[in-house]
Amino acid sequence: MTQYTGRPLNRVDGVDKVTGKANYAAEFDVQGLLYGYIVNSTITKGKIRQIHTDDARRVEGIVSIFTHENRPKLAWFDLSYKDQDAPPGSPFRPLRDAQIQFNGQPIALVVAETFELARYAATLIRVDYEQETHQTDLQANRHKARKPAVGMATLFKPPPPDPRGNFEEAFRNAPVQVASEYVHGSEHHNPMELFASTVVYEKGRYKSGERYTIYDKTQGVTNSILYVSQVFNIPFKDIRVISPYVGGGFGSALRPQHQLFLAVLAARELKRSVRVTLTRQQMFTLGYRPATVQTVALGASSDGTMTAMYHDGVAVTSQFEDYTEVVTTWGGLLYPAEHVKFDQKIISLDVATPMDMRAPGGVTGVTALECAVDELAYKLGMDPLELRLRNYTERNMNNDLTYSSKELRECFRRGAERFGWAKRNPEPRSMRKEHTLVGWGMATGIWDAFHAPARAEAVLMVNGKLRVSSATADIGTGTYTIMTQIAADTLGIPMEDVLFKLGDTDLPVAPIAGGSWTAATVGSAVKAACEAVGEKLFKLARKLPNSPFAKVRFSDVLFAEKAIRLKKDPAIAIPLQTLIDANGGAAVRAISTSVPNLLKQRKYARNTHSAVFVEVEVDEDFGTVRVTRAVTSVAAGRILNPKTARSQIIGGMVWGISKALEEESVMDHQFGRIMNHSLAEYHVPVNADIHELDVIFVEEHDDIVNPLGVKGVGEIGIVGMPAAIANAVFHATGIRVRTLPITLDKLLTAATTEVSTS
Ligand code: MOS
Repeated sequence: MTQYTGRPLNRVDGVDKVTGKANYAAEFDVQGLLYGYIVNSTITKGKIRQIHTDDARRVEGIVSIFTHENRPKLAWFDLSYKDQDAPPGSPFRPLRDAQIQFNGQPIALVVAETFELARYAATLIRVDYEQETHQTDLQANRHKARKPAVGMATLFKPPPPDPRGNFEEAFRNAPVQVASEYVHGSEHHNPMELFASTVVYEKGRYKSGERYTIYDKTQGVTNSILYVSQVFNIPFKDIRVISPYVGGGFGSALRPQHQLFLAVLAARELKRSVRVTLTRQQMFTLGYRPATVQTVALGASSDGTMTAMYHDGVAVTSQFEDYTEVVTTWGGLLYPAEHVKFDQKIISLDVATPMDMRAPGGVTGVTALECAVDELAYKLGMDPLELRLRNYTERNMNNDLTYSSKELRECFRRGAERFGWAKRNPEPRSMRKEHTLVGWGMATGIWDAFHAPARAEAVLMVNGKLRVSSATADIGTGTYTIMTQIAADTLGIPMEDVLFKLGDTDLPVAPIAGGSWTAATVGSAVKAACEAVGEKLFKLARKLPNSPFAKVRFSDVLFAEKAIRLKKDPAIAIPLQTLIDANGGAAVRAISTSVPNLLKQRKYARNTHSAVFVEVEVDEDFGTVRVTRAVTSVAAGRILNPKTARSQIIGGMVWGISKALEEESVMDHQFGRIMNHSLAEYHVPVNADIHELDVIFVEEHDDIVNPLGVKGVGEIGIVGMPAAIANAVFHATGIRVRTLPITLDKLLTAATTEVSTS
């Protein structure tokens, strides 16, 4: 019998994407559309004394210019501006007043008949500022580190636990110790699709007299509609947010961005349809992965048993919101040291609020931790894999719970075997290939297996086709495809007869697509809705004359090959079409809410794991690093579609290479401005940087995480990668670079001062 889940199927939206049929937020045709262009602050802190817009207003085709001076009155309380991913604090409100809180802050919106006109007129706006001294440098402000405020967003990113045992004493007494500081620069999200909102304004037909249809780049249409409704006091039913395709999110579209606010503001004031699109440079005025400084100290007995662990982290946030990059929790999840101490802090600087970026906190924290574990291995003279196996834990020590499933050991085994780890010469600088030094490094990865409530609808239509929907997003992860697979399997309908719809606030509600939870969250809702339709079909089947199902229970039947069947003897069946006909010719529909079984889940730690093995070649003269080979083995529960899942892991691995070797938002602190704010200067890998990437899935059977047994794969692929690369670079060169990205200047400078094997 046909079974779709578990098979490496192509994306159902693939053809639409490659043929250009798929429309993104800035691509919807609208009659009489106006275009908004954002003007950004060129100072970092202070006040607008005067903003001169007269020259710009005189340009023919300019419709309006919005600044803090003519902004209409909007919602007063911070609460109205809080979205589903808002950290504690006071959300940024565009054009609120004359105050400048960060460089690049939007200070005006020029609205014109064309984008080009708006952009031209924007160059004619002059601003007199009253500048104040700003602080943007993490290192120079470390004395300001403080505990973050606790709030809503900490639900999924809990602060680290209290100390256990006596770290200081255990560390002092440990025969083998390492303690190092790790510095990570900040990174900006650079999805291919620029942020954009197209607001279609209509009049007359509705109760309030106005109707807003908004095409928004977002990871959650529900989040956007709540925000617009609250901020602009527009009734819910007069707004519809649509986002069928997202050209990459990575966390940047978890929060409504300021182009949405500005586009709605202009449409509402002008009573016209308005589109606001950011430029690539303006993408660097949004949230980002914050810079961090971390210290990790590990103490072990001479046989490698880890006894003491310390991890502190300081991350940048803005002056107005306590975004916290939680980097310090992961050691307690991976290693069973008895004496531990974690310390998580933030520093408020004159910058925009950071945002979640793929595996927020996880990849940065695990990079420091897994580099420290590598340093410990060299000090012990022990193979890094052996050290990890010696300190393997079946429990999450932070909350003393066993894992619902954890096949990390098998990940290590199969990854090491595929990579050929056993052939590694442990001595740094021992493996050469002509003028390059070859290094092999490894690391562990870990991420959460979240599950949230969501709703979905399933409609088996009169023509036998199944329509399933939920207001979730497909941020490139494959949501359309896996939901189609789940629905097709649950009701035994061929995939080509199943249509899954998403990204529309008219559909049943779903949370923002983030945290790798969409497969579990929306998948469970889709399964529940299809099962509810199945139960209705079962009831119809029982009522048929001489029904073979009259005396059986729902648990005795299955759906396959367009029929309801007896599990014991699938040949005993009634075609679905017969049941639809028996329904008086009406479609069979059901809406279901899937809610996590907290009573069951809370007794277990729920995480994904990975083992990463990397080969690098370092040019001895130039210090250039190439990742020539990498193997990641992943334990993430059940894999619904090995093809789309593999794409997720490979995407994460590529970004891991980027984070380790290339990517950094470089700020000139004299100006408080990001200087490399374009794809010409902000380095991300190109095809020539990427070589052999290999993915292994170690499947886990897990009926605790959620009804589908899936854990999500959107983030785990990046987590262990930078540490494995940094560790491989050390193995190749004998140089430990603790400041990411590992660029050639750092290797060459260090090469003249430090070549050691410990
Ligand atoms: Mo992800 S950073 O939760 O989109």
